[in-house]
Amino acid sequence: MVRNLVGRLFRVLHEGQRGRTPGRPGNSSLTTIGAEFRSGSDDSTMIRLETPRLTLMALTVQQMRWQRDSFARLEQALGLAASGQRLEEELRPIVSRAISHMRRRPYHARWHCQWAAVLKEERRIVGSLAFKGPPDRDNAVEIGYGFDSFYHNRGLATEAVGEMVRWALDEEGVEAVIAETANMNVASMRVLQKVGFVITSATQRYLYWRISS
Ligand SMILES: CC(C)(COP(=O)(O)OP(=O)(O)OC[C@H]1O[C@@H](n2cnc3c(N)ncnc32)[C@H](O)[C@@H]1OP(=O)(O)O)[C@@H](O)C(=O)NCCC(=O)NCCS
Repeated sequence: MVRNLVGRLFRVLHEGQRGRTPGRPGNSSLTTIGAEFRSGSDDSTMIRLETPRLTLMALTVQQMRWQRDSFARLEQALGLAASGQRLEEELRPIVSRAISHMRRRPYHARWHCQWAAVLKEERRIVGSLAFKGPPDRDNAVEIGYGFDSFYHNRGLATEAVGEMVRWALDEEGVEAVIAETANMNVASMRVLQKVGFVITSATQRYLYWRISS
């Protein structure tokens, strides 16, 4: 069965990107856990974070093109097992928009790109995460994520979100990570609770979460 985990995340991102206010750029040249990020680099994985079970890879422009046009090529480039996954047709314009942001503002690429969550044991992409843009005027970045339903309830999203939050809070110009959940989305709420987010406000349909450094 072809699974389509990336699609779910992109829908979430699409909703979340409305009304965001970009703030000042973060640091444009840095070394992070296990890998180098060079401002403007788009042909090698920018950043790679490790958790006990996952490798979290920030995708480059080229890798996101493959994610959009040929998921198998992306898997091959990352040295992963072929899974038969693909990106939904309707989500391609959203990926294209993210690519366009990355090309126009390479120093912000890590805040626009997709992060592939690779399950080390299976060499397979099982989830996808992203920030919804650079730090806003309150020095906050918003996170979104989606995991393949086959791998739900094994603590993988909590592991990935926890690491991404730790990494983001270490970045210059970032003082908080925020998130939004539909108030029926118990699994996502639980992930945020386990990572240490607290609810800052609520509407009839959504809860707004924050974790600070
Ligand atoms: C939200 C999501 C990423 C969670 O992924 P995951 O890998 O299953 O998350 P984890 O295993 O780390 O944690 C899930 C937690 O929710 C709990 N949970 C899941 N469904 C639940 C339910 N219906 N009622 C109560 N708790 C539930 C699990 O028991 C677990 O908590 P626990 O560790 O205390 O037992 C996944 O459900 C998903 O991809 N959903 C679709 C996309 C989405 O909603 N993204 C978030 C947008 S804000």
